[in-house]
Parts: sequence; structure tokens; C-alpha cells
Amino acid sequence: MLPDKAPDEDVFCGSADLKRDAHVASFEKYKELYMKSIETPDEFWGDIAKDFFWKTKHSGQFLDYNFDVTKGKIFVKCMEGATTNICYNLLDRNVHDRKLGDRVAFFWEGNDPGDDLTVTYRELLQRVCQFANVLKSQGVKKGDRVSIYMPMVLELVVAMLACVRIGAVHSIVFAGFSAESLCERILDSDCSLLVTADGFYRGDKLINLKLLADEALQKCRDKGLLINRCIVLKHLSKEPEEILGSQSPPTKRSCPDLQVPWNPDVDLCWHALLRGASDECEPEWCESEDPLFILYTSGSTGKPKGVLHTVSGYMLYTATTFKLVFDHQPDDVYWCTADIGWITGHSYITYGPLANGATSVLFEGLPTFPNESRMWEIVDKYRVTKLYTAPTAIRLLMKFGSEPVKKYKRESLKILGTVGEPINPEAWQWYYNVVGDKRCPIVDTFWQTETGGHVLTPLPAATPLKPGSATFPFFGVVPAILNESGEELEGPSEGYLVFKQPWPGVMRTVYGNQPRFETIYFKKFPGYYVTGDGCRRDKDGYYWITGRIDDMLNVSGHLLSTAEVESALVEHKAVAEAAVVGRPHPVKGESLYCFVSLTNGVTFTCTLEAELKKQVREKIGAIATPDYIQNAPGLPKTRSGKIMRRLLRKIACNEHDLGDISTLADSSVVQQLFQNRCSTAV
Ligand code: PRX
Repeated sequence: MLPDKAPDEDVFCGSADLKRDAHVASFEKYKELYMKSIETPDEFWGDIAKDFFWKTKHSGQFLDYNFDVTKGKIFVKCMEGATTNICYNLLDRNVHDRKLGDRVAFFWEGNDPGDDLTVTYRELLQRVCQFANVLKSQGVKKGDRVSIYMPMVLELVVAMLACVRIGAVHSIVFAGFSAESLCERILDSDCSLLVTADGFYRGDKLINLKLLADEALQKCRDKGLLINRCIVLKHLSKEPEEILGSQSPPTKRSCPDLQVPWNPDVDLCWHALLRGASDECEPEWCESEDPLFILYTSGSTGKPKGVLHTVSGYMLYTATTFKLVFDHQPDDVYWCTADIGWITGHSYITYGPLANGATSVLFEGLPTFPNESRMWEIVDKYRVTKLYTAPTAIRLLMKFGSEPVKKYKRESLKILGTVGEPINPEAWQWYYNVVGDKRCPIVDTFWQTETGGHVLTPLPAATPLKPGSATFPFFGVVPAILNESGEELEGPSEGYLVFKQPWPGVMRTVYGNQPRFETIYFKKFPGYYVTGDGCRRDKDGYYWITGRIDDMLNVSGHLLSTAEVESALVEHKAVAEAAVVGRPHPVKGESLYCFVSLTNGVTFTCTLEAELKKQVREKIGAIATPDYIQNAPGLPKTRSGKIMRRLLRKIACNEHDLGDISTLADSSVVQQLFQNRCSTAV
């Protein structure tokens, strides 16, 4: 399945320097380890597991599973019989066994330059234990779900690891999501407590997060779920006595005037609760397959899916992918620019790096605030060696040219990474040539919320790179390409990307909905995990992701379901029907182009357009704000009433070559739709 020899044309290889100390230093070594991971997984992962702490060891085989719906329930079990605690492995093991207590765990860099903090492994352990005791004092027990809705502050890591320490299941909701989205997620996972913050700045914009949290809790109450505890971190609005009692000084951009609504029956002040809380907390020993966290991701039906990850497999997988894909070395300073509210932040800001005792940058701000050199200023300030970001951020910065980059030296950089969507060759070349000064290999990591960690990815000192290809499978991962009839294609081919067997980090179920889990990922092609992505394999065996093949859009590296946006639009009384498609966008990858049919008697106006945009933003969050809304008195439908999205995508792009339209019930609507195109969508 892997090529006999690495190709020698059009490829980029890691430098001799990098190869000297690398964990996997050649393509031959990668192939040898890969075969071991597939043929003798017990031995392969067993060796890796030796580095971790197990309260009790596992018995039996490393992975037990069924991936075939025709043979019964889909399940994956990893290291059955073992008990451990991830927080213990991330913190206590590093502080006590590996003597890394004084090592910096995070350099926190706030929204405003100059606003920064440092936390060592020892300090992080103390703070996590204290907050774990706070959670316990609030009645949180093993297995309870805790919702976390916070900006990118150190306390977010503290809150998530405190949950893990006591065996509670965190459900983090990205702080850019709306009150409605937060409410939906709290209800779905039946959370008993919410941890949030007063507010934060995104660039110059002040976000009053507590207002949104309150709105979400009220919506929950209206729907019958009474959450009567909400812990509020005062990030911007600390009172002087709270500052004195807290370990972290207020952020420089504190905002004492921020109006934080306070309900004494529900709200609890983070700082007050911590006062007097012990910094020792015995971890709760968990079974390998106990739930670790739930993270919601868009589903093609419109309702987000609660992806559930469990303890041992996820820990081993994120730790191993982090170590090998970023070739982690003890003197590294690693920076992943994602938000912890997404899977990239879970796996590659918190779990993978801390499991390796890494030093990371945790950044609250924006790549263009206060100016477009911010990222490179941070790279030089902390002497970042490994940088992991998204193609959309690269394209955004590319627009400003190379001058803002060249102002800073960036000589510490060794490896660059990308994630979230296919990277276009121009962006790849710019990242490689300008940011990395042609010295740094780029690891283009393909994975999903569901896969827990990287599944197709280069190893920086081993894999010759082709710009735009995620190259080859990580250890334990067996990809295949299927045609529409479910036949495996050999050699150069294009089709559905699937995986033939589980790896330790794969999701275990959709929280509370096993049938949905089986239908989405396993029904279409029994025996395979279906990614939902299209993929091409070239003559050298390299994998190239071609994009989603379901009704999902990838906006700035984040998946959105067209159905979710459509249902937000039709909730407006003026809209009778809506159809949403993706339109290529130079920075975001895809933008949202919405067609709306209005109810009788309503006219399409700028005010209505603005109202609809606002409505979607309020229902889902700012990332789902439509870029274009077009009046569509009629939508192109088949005789059976199915909307022909293929045609809408062409209309959105003003492409008149429509192909076969003989199945259209009324072809005159197409002409009308072209005439009504948004004037701004040239
Ligand atoms: O379509 C693929 C795209 O992002 C999807 C997963 O999105 P999400 O669960 O939000 O996780 C994003 C961060 C891991 C995939 O199904 N995707 C992710 N990484 C890549 C990618 N497409 C191409 N190349 C990538 N490197």
C-alpha cells in the first residue's frame, strides 16, 4: 500500500539538521514502523503505553472492535481493563516522575501585546487541583457533564483538566457560538454546571460572554433543564480584592466597567470559590473506555453531533501524533493558533503537548491585531520552533504581502503545520518560502473531530512532501478509496476516503445517539469508517483530500452544515424556503451563499437581508454569518421536489455552463436566478 521508494520529483524534504535528532528520521523507518503498527498493534502501542502511568494494567488485546454494521453493534474498545487518569499523566507524571515541575507549560499571550503570563507544570498542577476541589464542592461527580464556554485563557485549560481529574466529562463550546448554540449543546449532553467568563476582547471588539451565557441558561430553563450553578471567571472585570486573592494578575486590558449581570442564586465567582481550596486532589481513576469529553461538530442533518472520546486511546493517540508529527524535542516552543473550543485545540493545545511535557504558546488574540505582524512578533518573542495554523490564516496574512513577515527574524522556526482544509498550492508555497524561509517542512495534517488526532499526515524528517497533499497514513491507520458501489480502488484513483480499522483515538459514539453514529459513519459502506471526504491517490501513493462530499461547507477551516443555516433562515417569518451552498472564497476557502424564497407579499429589501444575516448569527454564531443572500422567488427543483444544489452552486459562481438540466421541473427559474444574483458576488 505504501510506495516502495519515495518519489524524487516535485518534493520537499526535511533538512539534514532535522533528520539528525528526529524520532522518525527516514521514509524507510516510517514504513517499518507503519507495518509494525498494522501487523502487531499490541506490541506497537504497548511500547508507547509504557511511558504512561496506569493504576491497573490492561488485560487482553490492545484494540477490540466491530466496524461492520451487518455484524451487529459498532464499537471500539482500547486497553480494556486498564485504569488511569489523563490529568495525572499530563501533570503529576511530568512534575513528579519526569521532574519537569519548573518547565513552562504555557506562555499565555493576551489579545493586547505586552499582556502575558507564564505558568509552569507545577503551577498548572496546583491550579487544576484547586479547581477540581471547587468542582467537587459544587457536587460534580465522576461521569457528570460540565459545559465550558470560555475565551482562550489559562483558566480554560485549568477548567478542562479539573474535570478530567475528577472523572467529569467536559463539553467545551467555542466562545464564538451563540447563546442558542450553547443552549442546544447543554441540553443535548444534559450538563449540570456551566463554567464561563465575564467577557473578552477579540481585537478591539468587546464580547460580553456572560450575557450570552445567561441567555443560554434561560433558554435551557424554558426548555425544562434547570442549571442552577454557573461559575464565572472575571477575566476583565475583577474587583481589587479578587485580584489580591488570585494567582493571576488581571489582563492589562481590564475593563472594570464591563456590565456583568449577576444572579446570586446561580452565579458563583471563580476567584471567591478558589480562596481556601486545597491544591491537592487525588485523581479519580477511570476505566479506559470511560467518557473523557464531548465535542459538538456540525451534522449534515443540521443538528450538531456530540462526538464522544474516551480515556486511554485518545491519550495515547494525541500524545503519539503530537510527538511524531511535530517531532517534539525538549527545547521546543510549540504554538498552535487554534481555539481550544475546536478539536485542534483539544488535541494539540491541551492533551498532546501536555502529555509530552511540551512548552506551548496559548494565544488569546487575532493574527491581524493590532497589526498583521502579530504572529511573527510572537514567534520571535517566544522563539517558537513549531508553528501549527490553518490555511485560512495563511491566506489572510498572504494578502498583506511578505513585508509584515520579514520585519521579524523567525529564525527559531523548524517545522510548520496546517490543518482544517485542503491547502492550496499558492498558500503552501508562501508559507514555505516566506514564513519558513525554505528551511521548514510543512506537515499538512488531515483529520477530523471524529478521528481525535491526525490520520493522514507527513512526518517532518521522513516524508518527502508534495504541496497540497496530506501524504500518507499515520501509524495504525489504514485508509482506502472506494467507488460509489463500495469497491476498493487500487493504485491511482479517486473516490470516497474511508478507514478500514480503528486507531486508538477514533470517536466511540455520538453522545446519546448510537444509531446516528452508525448511520453517519458506517451504513453507507459496511465494514468501513466513512470520513465524508473525497480523496485522490496519485501514482506515488500520496493522498490528496478533494473536499467534502456531503452537504457540509468548510468556512475558515470549520465545518458548517447547510441544513443548519437553512433552518436558521426559515425560522424568520419572511422566509418560506431557503437553500444554502458554498461559493469559493479567497481567504475563507468557502463562503455561504444563501437563496431565500420569501413568503407571499413580502419584498426583499436591504433591511430584510441584514435581519436574516443577524438571525443566522444569533442562532448559530458569527462563523455562520451568510456572505450573500439572494432573493429566489423560485428554486430549481426536480419533478420530485428535490432542490438541485448543483445548479445553485453554479449560479452562485455565475457559471452558465449548467450541464444536463433535463430533470428540472421548471427551467425558467434558472434564468430568473441568474438575473437576481447578488450584485456584490461578482
Ligand atoms: O473536510 C476535512 C477538513 O476538515 C474536516 C474536519 O473538520 P473538523 O471536524 O471541524 O476538524 C477540523 C480540524 C481537524 C475534514 O473532514 N480537513 C481537515 N484537515 C484537512 C482537511 N481537508 C484537507 N486537508 C486537511 N489537512
